[in-house]
Amino acid sequence: MRPPVLELIDVDKVYGFGRPNAVRAVEDLSLTVNEGEIVALLGSSGCGKTSTLRMVAGFEGVTKGKIKIAGREIQHLPPAKRGVAMAFEGYSLYPPLTVRENIAFALKSQRISPDEAARRVAEIAELMEISDVLERYPASISGGQQQRASLARALVRDADLHLLDEPMGQLEPQLRALLRGRIKHFIHERRLTAILVTHDQTEANALADRIAVMEEGILQQYDTPAKLKDRPANLFTGTFIGEPPMNVFPARVSSSERETVFDLGSGVSLKYPAAIFPPDLRSRLSQESDVCLGIRPHAVRLVDGGLPVTVSVVQWLGDQTHIAAQFASRTLVSVIHDRARFAPGNTASIAISAEDLHIFDADTGVAIGHGKVAA
Ligand SMILES: Nc1ncnc2c1ncn2[C@@H]1O[C@H](COP(=O)(O)OP(=O)(O)OP(=O)(O)O)[C@@H](O)[C@H]1O
Ligand SMILES: [Mg+2]
Repeated sequence: MRPPVLELIDVDKVYGFGRPNAVRAVEDLSLTVNEGEIVALLGSSGCGKTSTLRMVAGFEGVTKGKIKIAGREIQHLPPAKRGVAMAFEGYSLYPPLTVRENIAFALKSQRISPDEAARRVAEIAELMEISDVLERYPASISGGQQQRASLARALVRDADLHLLDEPMGQLEPQLRALLRGRIKHFIHERRLTAILVTHDQTEANALADRIAVMEEGILQQYDTPAKLKDRPANLFTGTFIGEPPMNVFPARVSSSERETVFDLGSGVSLKYPAAIFPPDLRSRLSQESDVCLGIRPHAVRLVDGGLPVTVSVVQWLGDQTHIAAQFASRTLVSVIHDRARFAPGNTASIAISAEDLHIFDADTGVAIGHGKVAA
């Protein structure tokens, strides 16, 4: 079996290592990327995404750990010897070259005919909607056009691995959505392997086969978009992935043979027949007392004869309504797909299915289990 395209093994990045103002940007990061995969590095600003890409590309050294490409350690090799193409966060186009020359420059070191090079440049420019600015210089085109030129320059190259750092951050939503589809198609059709950095979860979900969620330099979870949504490994990924964010309620669990009860305080409890939970979760719950319950806004059902909540804010977003309501002395957000029939102050009645519960350890935030049976 062939080794993965990329392996990061216990990688640390500390800027100013040994100095008092040292910054630990990446901590103990282990991650593999397989051939033909698109992986997204997702996380908030400063979580270490760019540092990770730059270490892979060779523009930053690793403080500790190993990086392997196709099974070979490369952390000591210069960037040009790594077989990696990168589109930078700051574009870094060559100012004295036209957009066409910038993109074609990436093909210079590859043994292809001038005709083939010209064809590839024209094709990628069309895909990126920048055919009309190919003869212009970087300084005379917009930020969004520069960004697409930089992305085109990276994608046009043959490389073992393509690294794309926030490749669409400057673009308006419609163009982003259009290019997302085209880039995904381009990468899969050519069987490229790519890592995409983004802080936009829609982009990560739409493009990536797997998503690595990072926070403060630490990998929180590395999974498919579906798994991240259905089986968050901890409270961080649970609340970070999903819009609007997951509702979180501290709860005290009590379980008997017949019934599992989550007491949310203020006289509110969620009660379920014990048999409804998967056996492994049941046995784990029987050992717990304090937990955090995660309930996604889309999973809150408005029903007749359920638990009463008092509506506080109603927002119609054009295609769905977000309702905030008071429930067990906290705010519970729910989403419905038509116009709400509620106004602030109204009482509504809700139900939450056992399979929509996410249960986390109250101290560590690590997931104890999920109501839905694993696929
Ligand atoms: N050259 C540097 N010297 C010192 N600290 C740095 C350097 N580059 C990055 N950092 C710090 O390392 C941490 C991670 O930065 P990094 O650029 O990797 O984050 P990021 O996830 O790409 O963020 P963003 O979404 O804002 O681009 C931050 O605290 C940042 O301030
Ligand atoms: Mg960055």
